[in-house]
Amino acid sequence: MDKDEFTVTPWEVKGEIDYDRLVSLFGTSYITPELLKRIPGSSGNLFLRRKIFYSHRDLEWLLENHEKGKSFYLYTGRGPSSGTHLGHMLPWIFTRQLQEMFGTQLYFQMTDDEKFLFKEQLTLEDTNRATYDNMLDFIALGFDPSKTKIIVDTRDIAHLYKIALKVSKKVTFSTAKAVFGFKNSTNIGSIFYTSIQSAPAFIESEMRGTNVPCLIPCGIDQDPHFRVTRDVAPLLGYYKPALIHGKMLPGLSGGKMSSSGEAAIYTTDSDEVIKKKVMNAFTGGRATVEEQRRLGANPDICPVYHHYEFLLEPDDDKLKKTYTDCRSGALLCGECKLNLLSKVLNFMKAHREKREKAKEIVSDFVFNAKVM
Ligand code: TRP
Repeated sequence: MDKDEFTVTPWEVKGEIDYDRLVSLFGTSYITPELLKRIPGSSGNLFLRRKIFYSHRDLEWLLENHEKGKSFYLYTGRGPSSGTHLGHMLPWIFTRQLQEMFGTQLYFQMTDDEKFLFKEQLTLEDTNRATYDNMLDFIALGFDPSKTKIIVDTRDIAHLYKIALKVSKKVTFSTAKAVFGFKNSTNIGSIFYTSIQSAPAFIESEMRGTNVPCLIPCGIDQDPHFRVTRDVAPLLGYYKPALIHGKMLPGLSGGKMSSSGEAAIYTTDSDEVIKKKVMNAFTGGRATVEEQRRLGANPDICPVYHHYEFLLEPDDDKLKKTYTDCRSGALLCGECKLNLLSKVLNFMKAHREKREKAKEIVSDFVFNAKVM
């Protein structure tokens, strides 16, 4: 693969992602320092402060409305194709923080239909199993059940279908082809699917009978779906949903072919497996200790460093020290990995306990509003 070749679509993320190029390719906007100041509590938020969530659509409009007393709700989701890894949880953790910052209602869509349609090898039983599994990880992050509802597409379709129909009537096959690269051989379920992912962006407006702004935190790979959603919104009399886009946590195997799924740490991995993954991780290090002491290493391309930056080292000063010590050659990769390992194991130990407890409260998150 060419050095500056990368792919970011809702179905595939690979290569060394140039996040600045995505902003111009997709036509989104950066979250500027001025805009950041208007988000209450942003300086205390790791993801915003470090530009992990770095791009947006219409965030200014949303905040302006919020300042005028017009509340919004949050919507995000997960395509349950497998277990949950750390990279999946980043936007969920951020969403929980947003929910706390703004005290808003949240819909979490689990697109078991999507994964069934798009992944040749998956059966509905597989996606069903993954749905329950992923749900536990989501709930374990501490969402307030009185403000959070999980929508499982195949179970809760009655709440989505009318909205999805209205959306689908406004999206042509040529738009779907242009946005998603569909071909004549694509199954027809996949072609319809984006209207299902659009539906929760309008669900509060439908239920309340009045327009309610919606903010969608998501990985920037999901932006193509919501470009369609946003184009259709005014045609149906809804507000366009605002978006806040995040970067993807790089896989530990690193290199040009890395994707977030490769050598990722799953919540069901044993300590032994986690240890293996961390200690075998790709790094920005040199071939020999002698060289590294002399020349220093490169944290900018190092997934171990990125794991600190994206999630596991909340202290900015310590993160900076890791960066400079890596650059100067004072810090070697072995030590750095061991340090990361202990942070990951601590995180997972706490997460596993919360995940067990989540099993008892799953039903509190069921979406059972009256069908419109
Ligand atoms: N398509 C997403 C995935 O594959 C799942 C999803 C549905 C989603 N609705 C969303 C993600 C809203 C972010 C925001 O994971």
